[in-house]
Amino acid sequence: MSSLTSTEHAAGAPFASPGVTDRAASGQTAADPDADEADYDAQEEQRAIEQAEEGSIIVDSDDVATDAGYESDGHTAASTSLADSVRDYIYENGRRYHRFREGRYNFPNDDVEQQREDMKHAMVKMLCGQLYFAPIGDSPHHVLDIGTGTGIWAIEMGDLFDSASILGVDLSPIQPEWVPPNVRFMVDDVDWLHPRNCFDYIHARHTVMAIKNWPRLLRRAIEHMRPGGWFEIQEVLHYPISHNGAMAADHPVAKFWELIHQGLSNLGVDFHAVAGGRLANTMRDCGYVNVSERTLQIPIGTWPKNKVLKTVGLYWRTILLDGLQAIALGPLMRGCGWSREQVEVFLIQVRRAYHDNSCLMYMPLHIIYGQKPESHY
Ligand SMILES: C[S@@+](CC[C@H](N)C(=O)[O-])C[C@H]1O[C@@H](n2cnc3c(N)ncnc32)[C@H](O)[C@@H]1O
Repeated sequence: MSSLTSTEHAAGAPFASPGVTDRAASGQTAADPDADEADYDAQEEQRAIEQAEEGSIIVDSDDVATDAGYESDGHTAASTSLADSVRDYIYENGRRYHRFREGRYNFPNDDVEQQREDMKHAMVKMLCGQLYFAPIGDSPHHVLDIGTGTGIWAIEMGDLFDSASILGVDLSPIQPEWVPPNVRFMVDDVDWLHPRNCFDYIHARHTVMAIKNWPRLLRRAIEHMRPGGWFEIQEVLHYPISHNGAMAADHPVAKFWELIHQGLSNLGVDFHAVAGGRLANTMRDCGYVNVSERTLQIPIGTWPKNKVLKTVGLYWRTILLDGLQAIALGPLMRGCGWSREQVEVFLIQVRRAYHDNSCLMYMPLHIIYGQKPESHY
């Protein structure tokens, strides 16, 4: 459960470092070495988010060399398939995919992928220090998480707001059974049907690789939000940018993400939908007001000097490396017509190139939120 209170997440305020408040309240003194360390950690957290948002990440000059070799990804084939079609799975190239609305989402849902999604959640939380940014107040009643995945965000929101009712919707039935009493999951397409004017807050994170028609989703969502409710999107722009401009255009990591973009585009998905303020503009075009966008840099690798950003970078690189095959198979085989062998051979150079810390790579995380006008019924 997050230790944050909702007032600490108020949007528009500088990014909070919740630990500072906790420690101040605990009455620790400067003479106490534990307190000094805690203060230092709190300052590192604050500096991390400032550097990530300002694009001023300080480089650790001791950590820009290429890391030692990386072992190949492990992967499992899940063994259970349940009876009815909603709970059924299909298997492709040793990976498990959703059966309900088959083919709509091009990435696996097996145990390995679920662990990776949970690690991504931990990484984003470490970077942002909070679960959301929209100013939703202290007591939202109805919260919807679209493409909830393992449901980890929905569960933590349920812990944070015990008066709220949280609904997570996903194509895959991969959420745990034991959840807080105010959290529910539903296997469904985001083309859901619910009462109009209902949700105080709708959240979508890491769904840019799935959503084919953002204007349609945003218009549908606004009908189901109560006037004054908020829609928040948190999406990574999956393309490596070099902090020092040292990355060649044919760098294998850049080539990899360009091909994934192409494959998804062939499958009808705009993987770069958040680039250049486009999704924020789509939100405005769909009738949302008070639309804000913030961008944080997620380092890839251990090159930042700040210890929070160094850990974030280690997590993010691990997540990307662990997911190499899961990310590549659908877009390259279904989208570009590659064979499994072509994919596996290509991945060898990409895997190696991720350990090149000298290009100081990062990816932007876009946080976009907008409000349904009070006057819109
Ligand atoms: C990358 S995961 C993100 C999970 C979660 N939002 C998080 O941040 O931890 C994307 C999820 O979206 C789900 N998804 C994709 N297309 C969907 C759709 N049309 N309707 C509902 N869920 C969908 C997938 O099944 C997958 O679990």
